[in-house]
Amino acid sequence: MTEQVHFGLKAVPISRLKEHSGKEVLVQGWLYNMRSKGKIHFLQVRDGSGIVQAVMGVNDVPAADFETAGKMTQESSLRIKGIVREDARAPGGVELSVTGFALVHQAEPNYPIQPKEHGTGFLMENRHLWLRSKKTMAILRIRDEVIRAIRGFFHDEGFVCVDAPIFTPNACEGTSTLFQVKYFEDFAYLTQSGQLYGEASAMAMGKVYVFGPTFRAEKSKTRRHLTEFWMIEPEAAFYDLEDVMKLAEDFVSHLVRKVLENRMEDLKTLERDVKKLEPAANTPYPRITYHDAAKVILKKGVEFNVGDDFGAPQETAVSEDYDRPLMVHRWPSAVKAFYMKRDPADPSIALGVDMIASEGYGEIIGGSQREDRLDLLLERIQQNELPLDAFQWFLDLRRYGSVPHGGFGLGLERTLAWITGVDHLRECIPFPRMLYKIYP
Ligand code: 4AD
Ligand code: MG
Repeated sequence: MTEQVHFGLKAVPISRLKEHSGKEVLVQGWLYNMRSKGKIHFLQVRDGSGIVQAVMGVNDVPAADFETAGKMTQESSLRIKGIVREDARAPGGVELSVTGFALVHQAEPNYPIQPKEHGTGFLMENRHLWLRSKKTMAILRIRDEVIRAIRGFFHDEGFVCVDAPIFTPNACEGTSTLFQVKYFEDFAYLTQSGQLYGEASAMAMGKVYVFGPTFRAEKSKTRRHLTEFWMIEPEAAFYDLEDVMKLAEDFVSHLVRKVLENRMEDLKTLERDVKKLEPAANTPYPRITYHDAAKVILKKGVEFNVGDDFGAPQETAVSEDYDRPLMVHRWPSAVKAFYMKRDPADPSIALGVDMIASEGYGEIIGGSQREDRLDLLLERIQQNELPLDAFQWFLDLRRYGSVPHGGFGLGLERTLAWITGVDHLRECIPFPRMLYKIYP
């Protein structure tokens, strides 16, 4: 580990101060808050790993340092040398008795984000500073945990990570949400999904996953839609719909388990009711066919035309009866993407599955078994009026050793919104991109 040394001491993250009880350490960070009582300054210092109170008496440091410290503004950056003292009442169980101090930068006065309630619009305009708040940092730590759990899970299951391109020549998820960009003399689209490249890679390596940013020109302003979001997409040769659903429940329950195991402190900061999350750490997840789900929706008196896709009210109506995510499978092929395999027993049905999170968080996974028959896939491409030329490479996968296969895409931010219990996806990505929102 690279270590920073100042005052002849190694820097210790605030979260690990307790391990250094009674010893003198270096802490580097920012001033979160301060109280002064004439001869003592109580500095609340944060460093990203935690917050600690540093107690600086007038005789602990040279007079000039004491004065400088007393004039610090919120978010000024600093280095402190001090002795770690255990104190059961303190957050993190420790305090620092200051023995040395150096101001790194005196922040300009009037830091925009004060310790009071601000509107979300204002906070979003100041997202670059809002990142420094406790709740945002808790969400970002959980995001990091989930990303590590994703990679760990697929590695352990024998999936190889392949990276799909971001510039693409064709649509994957319908042409209405494509972002077109100038590509030299031509045009390209930002990827909506890495799936088609995942399929090519699965025909090479058997089990693969793609993990990267994906883009959709979503013109609706909802709390569940970003224009740029991260998707994790496993794809496996010889998997049928059942295998896809089994993989999906094993995967999502693993993510929940890892967060419960390792990020309980952050869930507490977010005031997440973990009792409601815990059931999702266990499999199996319930499964219901689209047509059975439609009956539930109608029985509950929620408006719905059988044959349509679900919106938020329909998703909530079917999922509210369960304590963990629900998988709705076998959808009308008319509302699903061109690549889904039609049920050989009933061509009006696509072998697709959506996973709907509990507590009204909506769809977190979309997946399917893929159409592996050349003629039917070709027919679907033509019916959807997709440009055949751009799909020739994809059709080659059905020309040379086609096999049953399938996979799914999990939206990272949707999953995080559910796990952390926040209302809006924009809080689950460091710098959200939405309709009319590209600053900062
Ligand atoms: O259901 P979708 O559109 O499926 C696909 O893109 C497939 N090609 C995936 C695959 O099978 N490899 O999107 C998958 C997931 C959704 O369930 C949702 O969680 C998320 O991606 N998602 C979004 N998240 C945030 N903002 C948006 N605009 C999203 N659109 C989809
Ligand atoms: Mg979907």
